[in-house]
Amino acid sequence: MASLVFEKALTETAAGVERTLDHLLPRPQGPEARVIEAMRYGALNGGKRFRAFLAHQGAKLFAMDDERSLRLAAAIECVHAYSLIHDDLPCMDDDDMRRGKPSAHRAFDEATAVLAGDALLTLAFEILADPATHEDARVRADLVLGLSRAAGALGMVGGQMIDMASAGEDLAIGPLTRMHQLKTGALIAFSCEGGAILGHASPSARQALHAYAHDLGLAYQIADDLLDEEGDSAALGKTAGKDKSQGKATFLTILGEERARAQASLLADQAVAHLEMFDDRADILREAASFVINRRA
Ligand code: IPE
Ligand code: IPE
Ligand code: MG
Ligand code: MG
Ligand code: MG
Repeated sequence: MASLVFEKALTETAAGVERTLDHLLPRPQGPEARVIEAMRYGALNGGKRFRAFLAHQGAKLFAMDDERSLRLAAAIECVHAYSLIHDDLPCMDDDDMRRGKPSAHRAFDEATAVLAGDALLTLAFEILADPATHEDARVRADLVLGLSRAAGALGMVGGQMIDMASAGEDLAIGPLTRMHQLKTGALIAFSCEGGAILGHASPSARQALHAYAHDLGLAYQIADDLLDEEGDSAALGKTAGKDKSQGKATFLTILGEERARAQASLLADQAVAHLEMFDDRADILREAASFVINRRA
C-alpha cells in the first residue's frame, strides 16, 4: 500500500498539472473550436498523471519552483494524451473507452481525434520553448531535444510502430523489451530526466534519474500488460482483455503471469538502486517504484 505522503503528493501534482493544462490549452472559439474541445477532452479530467509526478518530483530534488516544473509536467502530459488518443484510433488499438469515458474518436470523430492529437503534440513543444518554462534558452533547448527524442521515431512512435507491426507474432524477449522501452519507457525516462534538466542538475545526477526512470518505465508497461489481462474495465477506465484479443505480444504471453510479475518487481528494485546518490529527499521516488508494480489501475 502506498503511504499517505505518496498518495498526497500524487494527488497534489495531478491537481497542479490539471490547473496548468487548463490554463495552457486554448479556449474553444471560432470555426476551429471543435479540435480545441477534443484537445481539452483528451488532456483534462483524467489519468494518474504519473509522468507529471516524475517530472515534478525530479525537479523538486533540485529545488525548482512548482510553476516551472508544472509547465514541464503539462508538456509531457500533452504528449502522453496525444499518444493515448492516437493509440485508441480504429487504425491502431480500436478502443472505445479511455479514462472511463468514450475515447476521443468516439466522443468526436476520427479526423478530429487525429487533429487533436497532432495539436497536443505541437502544444507540448510550444510550452517548453516558452521563456516562462525557463529563462535560460539552453535549458529550454535541452528540454525540447529530450522530449523530441523520447516521443519520436526512435522513442514512443517507434515503439508504437513495433507494437502494431508485431501483432499476431511471437516476439522474443529482447525485441519485446525494446518495444516496451520505446513505446512507454522513453517518455517516462524523459519525465524524470526533464526535472533534472530544468533544475540544472549535474550530469551524474541527471544520468541517475534517467536510469531510474528507464527501469521504472519498463516496469510500468509490464504492469499495464498484467492489468490488461487481470484488471476489469470499470476500474481501469479502458477495455480490459484487449491485448489478448488483438494478439499483442506482451510480457505475459512470453513469460507467463508469475515471471512477468517477478520481472516487474526486479526492475522496480533496480530502478531504486539508481537513486543511491540521493538522500531521503528521493524517498518519494523510491516509493513510486512500488506504486508502479502494485497499482490496480
Ligand atoms: C497508459 O498509461 C498507456 C501506457 C503507456 C502504459 P497510463 O496508465 O499512465 O494512463 P493514464 O495517464 O493514467 O490514463
Ligand atoms: C500504449 O500501450 C503505449 C502508448 C504509447 C500510448 P497500450 O496500447 O498497452 O496502452 P493502453 O493499454 O491502451 O492504455
Ligand atoms: Mg497500444
Ligand atoms: Mg492501447
Ligand atoms: Mg495496455
